[in-house]
Amino acid sequence: MPDIKAQNCTINLEGNSYEFPVIIGSEGEKAIDISKLRDTTGYVTLDVGYKNTGATKSNITFLDGELGVLRHRGYSIEDLAEKANFLEVAYLLLKGELPNKDQFDDFDSSIRHHTLVNEDLQNIFKSFPTGSHPMGQLIAMISSLSAYYPKALDPNRSVDAKNRTMLRLLAKMPTLCAMIYKKRLGHPVVYPSNNLDYVSNFLNMTFRHVSDSDYQHDPVVVDAMNKLLILHADHEQNCSASTVRLVGSSHANLYATIAAGVAALWGPLHGGANQEVLEMLESIKADGGNVQKWVDKAKDKNDSFRLMGFGHRVYKNFDPRAKIIKKTCDDVLNRLGINDPVLDIAKKLEESALTDPYFIERKLYPNVDFYSGIIYRAIGFPTEMFTVLFALGRMPGWIAQWQEMISENQPIGRPRQIYTGHTPRPFIPRGERH
Ligand code: ACO
Repeated sequence: MPDIKAQNCTINLEGNSYEFPVIIGSEGEKAIDISKLRDTTGYVTLDVGYKNTGATKSNITFLDGELGVLRHRGYSIEDLAEKANFLEVAYLLLKGELPNKDQFDDFDSSIRHHTLVNEDLQNIFKSFPTGSHPMGQLIAMISSLSAYYPKALDPNRSVDAKNRTMLRLLAKMPTLCAMIYKKRLGHPVVYPSNNLDYVSNFLNMTFRHVSDSDYQHDPVVVDAMNKLLILHADHEQNCSASTVRLVGSSHANLYATIAAGVAALWGPLHGGANQEVLEMLESIKADGGNVQKWVDKAKDKNDSFRLMGFGHRVYKNFDPRAKIIKKTCDDVLNRLGINDPVLDIAKKLEESALTDPYFIERKLYPNVDFYSGIIYRAIGFPTEMFTVLFALGRMPGWIAQWQEMISENQPIGRPRQIYTGHTPRPFIPRGERH
């Protein structure tokens, strides 16, 4: 991997000039390293929403929003989605290289070893009211794992303890997600079958009835699920990954840290958009299928409505994940023989938005969430489970981001601010205030 090269940049402030290093990444991305800016000049930078701020160097994921490129550890998302399975990609993200056969078998069997969750966790599930949102449950369940593994409370304890926590999270995640689904239906849970691969095991725990020993999952569905999880596996410094890094930087334990990442993902502007997309398409259908009316609504500046599944902070040309997913979507619907009217609405909406100057000028394209929900629905997941499935896929990425941050011993994340409130004023006793 090429070394990061450095040159200098001069900043002139109040008649003084200061030199700061310029950092160039291995893909040519440039940054001004202002980590000494406040110490040397007294100034801080202001960048609400971090639109121009690199929070870290990282060698996990590269994306080029203008060209629609996404690569993990140098491998293109197209190759990974087509040729690898989810656990291979998880290994790649966590360890930096694709596993050879023995390494994969070892990793796979360690994951299979940790799939069960403590039986007492079911008591927590029982306390959730029927209809409570699966993401709220997932946050609580992941966070409560810390109560069962107290040795994991100190993230610096030992490499072994750290590795075990990372494996446990990856291994227990499908079990927890399937339990959430079963709880929603009021059905008994199906325990993990460790003779099954990661994705098949998840589908089995989710869709098999306890009494049905003949349940078989369709290989097309297993393949689609693998692809979906791979496409969600990491996306560099997005809102939830940045949350994981920020919370983890205080040396909170990994379970609590990941639970915070899941909370960030829940928001409709981030992972929660996949649920919102389907709900939006349903609303358009219920409203008579007048797509143009909804496009106009999204353009109306007096209306807060946005086309969910459109736009991305970084991708300003196309989202490569959406391209791959669109094809998978057709495969799954053909294979399952599903003719979903919601898909017709999605296609019309995409056509209409992509030819509309409002969306063209603002570079708003369908993102990964636009098509994923249609596939999840075809497979049989209820809409409220969609963001949980996103979290299932994102787990290796969050862990890899955390691991990189902890292994580099990065300082606690603590942004500055520009205070715009009152200057000092005298305190007036309560009885004398107007
Ligand atoms: N529908 C209509 N208008 C939009 C949309 C949209 N989906 N997205 C952005 N715009 C408009 C904004 O109103 C703004 O217009 P203006 O310049 O006239 O004020 C312009 O496009 C730029 O939008 P910003 O909000 O500044 O872009 P930002 O990078 O902050 O936001 C985001 C990106 C949050 C993804 C936004 O596009 C959005 O809200 N999309 C819908 C939600 C969504 O699909 N989220 C999933 C993202 S992918 C992921 O997290 C996995």
